[in-house]
Amino acid sequence: MARRKIVAGNWKMNKTPSEAVALVEELKPLVACEDVDVVFCVPAIDIVPVVEAAKGTNIAVGAENMYFEESGAYTGEIAPAMLVDAGVKYVILGHSERRGYFGETNEDVNKKMVKAFEHGLTPIMCCGESLEEREQGVTMDLVRQQVKVGFLGLTADQAKTAVIAYEPIWAIGTGKVATTEQAEEVCAGIRACIAEIYDEATAEAIRIQYGGSVSGSSAPELFAQADIDGGLVGGASLKADFGKIVNYK
Ligand code: 13P
Repeated sequence: MARRKIVAGNWKMNKTPSEAVALVEELKPLVACEDVDVVFCVPAIDIVPVVEAAKGTNIAVGAENMYFEESGAYTGEIAPAMLVDAGVKYVILGHSERRGYFGETNEDVNKKMVKAFEHGLTPIMCCGESLEEREQGVTMDLVRQQVKVGFLGLTADQAKTAVIAYEPIWAIGTGKVATTEQAEEVCAGIRACIAEIYDEATAEAIRIQYGGSVSGSSAPELFAQADIDGGLVGGASLKADFGKIVNYK
């Protein structure tokens, strides 16, 4: 069975609650599409108004991060149950900005993955190499490590419904898109890694996105690759171009 494409916007640290509602209103008609899953991953404070503004549309709402404890003395953190209660369906975990600026490790990401599933949230787990790592030729080793540790303790049934986003760090926010061949090569390698951990059926079911300067013009070729099931989009998700990415065909 063909995998359904999934296009998610990652708003990062952009848009106040009122700006967020205005952006949903603007993008709503542009992202209407029946055969692609559309997700808006928004800052925590925007979640409640965005869920409300997206009611009755095809837009699912995601968070950009989450903590791995249930509740308690973790000042500033957001618990999985809070996201679920607010109407969130997806959560980005282990984005390179969280790993790079906030010291998140593969082990932290794994704890969050396990928690997300406990609460019925679909994780979008990010992985990807820096330019230095690519030049050293360790891209696939590094990405495999991120995936293997990230998925520790998860069952095949859970893994089947997860989303992995391959985001080369050097392509994020730089306008420098990975070539179609580079993106497909790593996404295929991730799928092979999932087959090794689990089995072919799980590898065939899991959805793998490419992220890094995706735009309306680069999306069609990227999303046509055998192992690329959509995109995780930063900058372009805040603009009308996001509608073009969703309706890439
Ligand atoms: P850009 O699309 O702005 O390069 O960001 C990609 C990204 O980090 C999505 O998570």
